[in-house]
Amino acid sequence: MQTKTALITGITGQDGSLLAKHLINLGYRIIAPTRKNPDKSNLNNLGIIDSSLIEFLIYKQFSDFEAIIAQHKPTEIYHFAAMSHVGQSHENPAVVFDVNCNWTLELLASVIKNSPNSKFFFASSCEIYRNDLPSPVREEDEKRPNNPYGISKLSAHQMVDYYRLVKGLFACNGILFNHESELRPASFVSKKICSNVARLVKSGGKPLTLGNIEAKKDWGYAPDYIKIIHEIMQQKNAQNYNVSTNKLYSVKDMVNAAFSALNYEISWQGEGIKTHAINSAGDTVVSINEKYFRPLDNRFLRGDNSKIKQFMQNHSQTPFTQWVKSMTLNEYKLLN
Ligand code: GDD
Repeated sequence: MQTKTALITGITGQDGSLLAKHLINLGYRIIAPTRKNPDKSNLNNLGIIDSSLIEFLIYKQFSDFEAIIAQHKPTEIYHFAAMSHVGQSHENPAVVFDVNCNWTLELLASVIKNSPNSKFFFASSCEIYRNDLPSPVREEDEKRPNNPYGISKLSAHQMVDYYRLVKGLFACNGILFNHESELRPASFVSKKICSNVARLVKSGGKPLTLGNIEAKKDWGYAPDYIKIIHEIMQQKNAQNYNVSTNKLYSVKDMVNAAFSALNYEISWQGEGIKTHAINSAGDTVVSINEKYFRPLDNRFLRGDNSKIKQFMQNHSQTPFTQWVKSMTLNEYKLLN
């Protein structure tokens, strides 16, 4: 059988590196365009940094992808590279739109011109949905993002639809709900919670300070989602899919799960901005700071995942408490 080639944008990020590992296990050859001197620590942690199946290429600007696509004509293209921080997107909407939308459009135009048989996957986001939709949301439900990140993702998402429906490209949107792993950068709440809880249990110190601990998310485990994303690209027809768990947990639930993973007892006191958690000695281990609150962060969005259920008999989803435990134990191990 002929070797499949996958081009991954954003291979050094959480999703890119996890997908690279999965595809290497399946025998794919991987084309990995990166900026000069990329941080390859995720690939290193996954043990694939020296894989002979990955060909790294340096690009300077988006337009360099035209030649890369024309030369390699990849079987599958996974477009993950993005500015992925929702909170920070309020500070820099123009850059976020350029990277997340205009680049996606350039890629699509280049694929249709130079390699129209390539399959294209776009990492769309649950941030595109209307804020107050009754849960659980389905793929066709109303889109109305309320932050620059969501707006840029929706515009790109609609371009993907256009290239599928009008130009005939095999192009899918995976509408990814929050997905975490040991590879998450520190700016995301899961990593912040698990690393600080590990530190507090190991050696004490300053409390973990959070924003809105009542925020609820449909949270999944990134290594599970990567397998689903690959399955999406193996289907006969290109479609859009929610990639979600259809379950909601709060930031506070995550804090509780992380402490409990290390058998450390805490109890919650106070209300609103004064809410805090103390340990059995009465020391404050978690507090709230308004500087971490976000505008319009009142979403309780759950993703109807019936469409991906067909792939999930092969790939079960790791329960919330199990992956929070795995992340916390990993952080604890790193402190030794
Ligand atoms: N980062 C952070 N830091 N978030 C906090 C904190 C804090 O101290 N305290 C509470 N939160 C809340 C945020 O307000 C948000 O409701 C929730 O925790 C999750 O925040 P993040 O982990 O930063 O993720 P996100 O929801 O903004 O964005 C992620 O998920 C999206 C949907 O899948 C990113 O991966 C996006 O790229 C992705 O589209």
